[in-house]
Amino acid sequence: MTAAKVTVPSLAERKASSEKLVMVTAYDATFAALADDAGVDLILVGDSLGMVVQGVENTLPVTLDEMAYHTRLVSRGASRALVIGDLPFGAYQVSPEQGVASSIRLVKEGRAAAVKLEGGVPMADTIEAITRVDIPVMGHIGLTPQSFHRMGGHRVQGRSAGAHAGGRERLLADAKAVEQAGAFAVVVEGVPRSLAVELTQTLSIPTIGIGAGPECDGQVLVLHDVLGLSPNLFKFAKAYANLRADVVDALERYAHEVRTGAFPDDDHSFH
Ligand code: KIV
Repeated sequence: MTAAKVTVPSLAERKASSEKLVMVTAYDATFAALADDAGVDLILVGDSLGMVVQGVENTLPVTLDEMAYHTRLVSRGASRALVIGDLPFGAYQVSPEQGVASSIRLVKEGRAAAVKLEGGVPMADTIEAITRVDIPVMGHIGLTPQSFHRMGGHRVQGRSAGAHAGGRERLLADAKAVEQAGAFAVVVEGVPRSLAVELTQTLSIPTIGIGAGPECDGQVLVLHDVLGLSPNLFKFAKAYANLRADVVDALERYAHEVRTGAFPDDDHSFH
């Protein structure tokens, strides 16, 4: 029996259930299909593609054109999982209207079922405007990689009390603003476990944690980290395979056989 397609309304029910939501990033059709086969619930076409696919230092250079392209590839590969397109830096911060126009591109060109954007209180109007045109929005608070320069790098947020940017009270206000603006779920990244617990208990929408401890309603990791393709892992990430070593080994054996004339042999030739 084929498992039912994951939809935005079906996620609301999962908040009340004890079954955790599983989200992973993907950037192309091949890996989207594999994530789907593995029963992953949500596939995020993350702007982390800047680092893991494009080889740049942070997410800031990623463009909307690139996100629309990769979202389209992922949508072709996934059949059950919900595909969420990440709005890149500069594609929604100017105005709610810009956010709506960019989201429409990710749905129309990328075939995304939803979009994700970073930010809390300052982004509430934009989340509201996007949901008003019936595009579901996933929020993202805490360590928001597009705030790289304000944070001074990828740094854990919410460790100090207070309503300043990155303070615990501010993050609680951000979470409430995202929920009230109509987001269907929120990624909580790089915050102390106790704060993630408080956020998860306070909000009526699912929290998806990354570097936020086990109590969130779901978890997300970057695909290349899960597969052991990333050269370095953040403390919160975990590799469930060692594909980096497997890939190098396969390519070394291929190179050796080409150089020694062992490949192609008769079995791999036409007659
Ligand atoms: O871009 C991304 O991959 C993300 C996840 C890490 C949440 O935003």
